[in-house]
Amino acid sequence: MPAYPDAEKLGEVETTLTSFPPLVFAGEARALKAELAKVGAGKGFLLQGGDCAESFAEFHPNTIRDTFRVLLQMAVVLTFASKQPVVKVGRMAGQFAKPRSSPVEAQGGVELPSYLGDNINGIDFTPESRIPDPDRMLRAYSQSAATLNLLRAFAGGGYANLRQVHQWTLDFVGRSPWAAKFTEMADKIGEALDFMQACGVDPSSVPQLQGTSFYTSHEALLLQYEQAMTRQDSLTGDWYDTSAHMLWIGDRTRFDGSAHVEFLRGVGNPIGMKCGPSLAPDALLRLLDTLNPAREAGRITLISRFGHDKVEAGLPALVRAVKREGHPVVWSCDPMHGNVIKADNGYKTRPFDRILSEVKGFFAVHRAEGTHAGGIHIEMTGKDVTECTGGAIAITQEGLADRYHTHCDPRLNAGQSLELAFLLAEMLNLELAGSKAEAA
Ligand code: TRP
Ligand code: MN
Repeated sequence: MPAYPDAEKLGEVETTLTSFPPLVFAGEARALKAELAKVGAGKGFLLQGGDCAESFAEFHPNTIRDTFRVLLQMAVVLTFASKQPVVKVGRMAGQFAKPRSSPVEAQGGVELPSYLGDNINGIDFTPESRIPDPDRMLRAYSQSAATLNLLRAFAGGGYANLRQVHQWTLDFVGRSPWAAKFTEMADKIGEALDFMQACGVDPSSVPQLQGTSFYTSHEALLLQYEQAMTRQDSLTGDWYDTSAHMLWIGDRTRFDGSAHVEFLRGVGNPIGMKCGPSLAPDALLRLLDTLNPAREAGRITLISRFGHDKVEAGLPALVRAVKREGHPVVWSCDPMHGNVIKADNGYKTRPFDRILSEVKGFFAVHRAEGTHAGGIHIEMTGKDVTECTGGAIAITQEGLADRYHTHCDPRLNAGQSLELAFLLAEMLNLELAGSKAEAA
């Protein structure tokens, strides 16, 4: 938790935030929970993605649109291949607070407090910029509101219409071999829609073809902000954190007695929890009992982040414990955070093949345990950045310097994200083929 030097100003900002309109409605959070309950039951897949950290500097409609369109592309690839619904959740419209591995950062012999995300302090390496400033929460609120407004417009206003599927490809992705595969699939979807139209079914008569549900999420790290955004739902009387549909607890804040666990226990939203190598099965079960005592389906998504070389050794014990106790959860894979390395030239990066290898390990574990590999949680952007190495249009270590723009961790670019979606679709199909064979 940041140490705000001006407690009075902090109090004023909290009061102001409390008076602002909620960003999401409790009924929407319940709708997401119901969709996640289906995923937990093996009927669907969760796609969650966006920036590691959103920033004030990169606030631009094109950035929002480009991330959204890549998520649409990924979703349509996964839906088309698996013939299962895909629940779409952005790490967007509120992902502004960052847990850091060290409270201080040193540069050229100077040590300053770490950057904690744009709603807490500034990224510039100066003493002034690193002082936590409560006013930043108001700016984060307003940027979240505008972002969410645009996302809602895209999701429901025609941009996400299945008839637009060809339009979602970004020009620079055209060079990727996966772009051709996407065009091929888009042609097939177009044909299917033409056929259905001839039968009298088209987007104007079937709203499901016209748009999609899109939800928002972020790490519930800055409790001052999250608490000020918490409201009592007028329909049910229950409390919801209205800063996003889904909130998650990070790997660093999910211990016994954590304030973050205590806070999220009291709100009705769907909750994610990061599970890394340091989480013991009995500790996980205690957390599940605390966060979901009623064992409500759709309430909990467990997001494993072990690292490509640890997932197959570490994940099975957690999966078995949760299965044995009968806790209904969605298992999702974060293949990003356990796979950070430092390139020789100093850049923090993630090799695409390690990301892919963690996803494969995740699917292998669930296949072996007879549980559903239910989702993916990725840091990605629609921009043509060079932050993760590898992929079909291979980014080399030397190439990282070209367009390295992230405010925190390295993200998959649009081409790498699309490639991952196709590879994921293959794995999902293997899982489905396996469960069909078992049923037969
Ligand atoms: N409404 C359906 C869904 O969200 C179909 C759909 C419409 C869709 N637009 C989409 C699917 C864009 C993926 C991407 O699943
Ligand atoms: Mn990150």
